[in-house]
Amino acid sequence: METIVNGVRLFYEDRGQGPAVLFVHGFPLNSAMWQPQIEYLSSVQSAYRVIVPDLRGFGASDVPEGPYLMETFADDLASLLDTLGLDQVVLGGLSMGGYIAFAFMRRYAERVRALILCDTRPTVDSHEAQASRETNAQLAEREGVGLLLDKMLPALLAPQVSGEVQSQVRTIALRNDPKGIAGALRGMAQRADATDLLPQIRVPTLIIVGAQDSLTPPDVAHAMQSSIPNSRVVEIPSAGHVPPLENPAAFNKALAAFLGEI
Ligand code: MLT
Repeated sequence: METIVNGVRLFYEDRGQGPAVLFVHGFPLNSAMWQPQIEYLSSVQSAYRVIVPDLRGFGASDVPEGPYLMETFADDLASLLDTLGLDQVVLGGLSMGGYIAFAFMRRYAERVRALILCDTRPTVDSHEAQASRETNAQLAEREGVGLLLDKMLPALLAPQVSGEVQSQVRTIALRNDPKGIAGALRGMAQRADATDLLPQIRVPTLIIVGAQDSLTPPDVAHAMQSSIPNSRVVEIPSAGHVPPLENPAAFNKALAAFLGEI
């Protein structure tokens, strides 16, 4: 399905019936990374309405000029919820999706019934990380997404992950436009620190992290947990930075347990 939000055409999946769960994808992926969760929550469990957009610049959505600030992505999501007539959702975000969830909490906290933070961090980029984002943005613009992906893939996934999952991730990422990839990289480099927000989060919060995540390691997840009052951490075995795809069975089990409680 698609709709226009803030002048941009957004593609989204909207499946199932019941309490609404909105999942926000990570970088350099798109809505397809949540396919196992869409299936599980809307069909196998038949208990939830799952909404999964391609953010601006990604997948089948429009690719406007960047940089894409996390606040802009959050405004797009709020407009999407308006379009769907949803006052409140459970909001889940992975990595960049987590940065966007923090921006959403700052602006629209009353619309979040519960929060799921996957493989993300509240802190900003170092100067080195900001410079490397600019290098990567220019690489994507010059050479396309493939080369950037070759550079990123080893750090994204657990070393023992199957070739099938590797090619799934590659296929998803290659569907993105280099211009959108560059816009998101430049937006992430400018993101605000969310450390002070954590103690103000009052909704039930599930923090999920791949046990072998080298980009946002379990230590980061446990530190966030100690700052968010009503939160807990689940570590997903045999998974790196993208546990929804690397170990969907364990990830879905953690989701179902949390959603069943709220
Ligand atoms: C992601 O998975 O969204 C990225 O690792 C986020 C980032 O580059 O900081």
